Amino acid sequence: MPSYLVTGGSGQLGQCFQAVAKEFPEINLFFASRNEVDITRPETIANFYSKNPFVGIINCAAYTNVDQAENEQESALKSTLKDFKI
Ligand SMILES: NC(=O)c1ccc[n+]([C@@H]2O[C@H](COP(=O)([O-])OP(=O)(O)OC[C@H]3O[C@@H](n4cnc5c(N)ncnc54)[C@H](OP(=O)(O)O)[C@@H]3O)[C@@H](O)[C@H]2O)c1
Repeated sequence: MPSYLVTGGSGQLGQCFQAVAKEFPEINLFFASRNEVDITRPETIANFYSKNPFVGIINCAAYTNVDQAENEQESALKSTLKDFKI
């Protein structure tokens, strides 16, 4: 059974995937919180993968605090996954 990593698993979009996951028994979803997988820190994805291999990522993580993003532009831009490499 193929497994997929769902990043931002505790956010609104991630919770929607959690709600419908049982309707798709042919795939396995790993829901990861930011503590487990931080999309701005590729090594956390590699570490998660080493313990829980997956064939793809459903990215529900995002920097969604738009006001704070103006003060933390570097963090916000990192979360766009631009130039992302594992
Ligand atoms: N909700 C909607 O109706 C809707 C509609 C269309 C599109 N979208 C898109 O869906 C995406 C998610 O939106 P949302 O509404 O689910 O937002 P949300 O409720 O704010 O959830 C965002 C999630 O991302 C996590 N996160 C933030 N930075 C992270 C990082 N560096 N590494 C890992 N996880 C991180 C947050 O974790 P923490 O809680 O620990 O910060 C949170 O679980 C956005 O791109 C949004 O534009 C949402």
